[in-house]
Amino acid sequence: MAALGNDSAQAELLRAALTRHLVAEGTIRDERVAAAFRTVPRHLFVPYTPLDLAYADDVVLMKRNQAGVVISSVSQPSIVALMLEQAGIEPGDQVLEIGSGGYNAALMRELTGPKGSVTTVDIDPEVTARARALLDQAGYDDVLVVQADGEYGAPGQAPYDRIVVTVTAWDIPLAWIDQLRPGGRIVVPLRVRGQTRAIAFDRVHGHLDSRSMTWCGFVCMQGAGANYERLVPISGDEVGVCFDEDQEVDAHPYDGVLEQPGERVWSGVVVNREEPLFDLNLRLATTLPGYCVLSGGGPGVVAPTPHWGAAAVATRDSVAYLTSRQARSALASFVELGCNGHGPDARDLIDRMVDQVRIWDVHHRRGPGPAFQVHPVGDELPPGFHIGRRHSYITVSWPE
Ligand SMILES: C[S@@+](CC[C@H](N)C(=O)[O-])C[C@H]1O[C@@H](n2cnc3c(N)ncnc32)[C@H](O)[C@@H]1O
Repeated sequence: MAALGNDSAQAELLRAALTRHLVAEGTIRDERVAAAFRTVPRHLFVPYTPLDLAYADDVVLMKRNQAGVVISSVSQPSIVALMLEQAGIEPGDQVLEIGSGGYNAALMRELTGPKGSVTTVDIDPEVTARARALLDQAGYDDVLVVQADGEYGAPGQAPYDRIVVTVTAWDIPLAWIDQLRPGGRIVVPLRVRGQTRAIAFDRVHGHLDSRSMTWCGFVCMQGAGANYERLVPISGDEVGVCFDEDQEVDAHPYDGVLEQPGERVWSGVVVNREEPLFDLNLRLATTLPGYCVLSGGGPGVVAPTPHWGAAAVATRDSVAYLTSRQARSALASFVELGCNGHGPDARDLIDRMVDQVRIWDVHHRRGPGPAFQVHPVGDELPPGFHIGRRHSYITVSWPE
């Protein structure tokens, strides 16, 4: 479908090389996804970008807001590929994308084939105007581009077999479930307690069951679904702890809590510095009241924190957070996890956090990971840890 008259031989070579790389590293497993990557001219969707960067496995930033925060980008090819693998788009599918750029919509149009359709929605008129022009230029004039708040989906073309959300979401609005065909699938970068996972959910009756997940980062949702996180300063402007909207307001520690005398306990659990700790952090988030995420703060302000993000737990006058030190008698790439705390409840918070680190090590570290379900508010909820959002409950459960 691509208008290859716009394509140069050099672009074709670079595109083939990028696709080979994504296949070789196991990111692309489906030959149909590989064929789409070999076909869609990504450089046309990132104008003014040198060809080698257009075909690097990297995000291309397109727009910042007045505060300098990135609000639109053309996503990193490996994340796009992983999410398309998760989506499992079939020929003939009706697909909705939330968050436009043009490139991913074109890939999805290749996957749906002539009998399917792709609708892409973006809240930003500048993004939709650019996506429309670039899709036309690349030969994808049958992709429908809609300017609207994706919180409400795109009811005009519903129901969809697949919905692919390419912007960070904190909630699953009912419109997304309602506009998905029974048995259909939604892939969404869902942010829960400071970590974002692209989760593929199948619609089972009126709720969603997770079937796969991968780590990712996206720009944040604007519009009606924005602003679910609050940063509470605990050391002036230097260090804060971040809570989700649904968490207890009285649990916020006061500014200055880090100046109270500190305590530290080591867990005996050793990890490779490169080992992702997302499941550990989620385990702590789903078992410890007052869970939050420590942000900012250089050496001297807080103890060394694992570079994957510092899980923390707080009461009104105390805080404890995950720390690490070089593991004894192990290679330099291994660290021992521990917990640092300040305030009158520090020892109790530390002990509870260290216990959970040990439980994660013995029972959950080698998988299987957590399962997620999403139910509209008002449904009977399954067993598990429930996170109450504005429109839905997200239930996290840990297989025994
Ligand atoms: C990472 S970009 C999308 C990348 C794109 N899918 C591609 O092909 O590379 C995220 C987009 O989501 C859009 N966005 C943010 N909030 C939105 C909302 N509520 N509804 C629809 N789009 C939204 C932003 O304007 C931004 O263009």
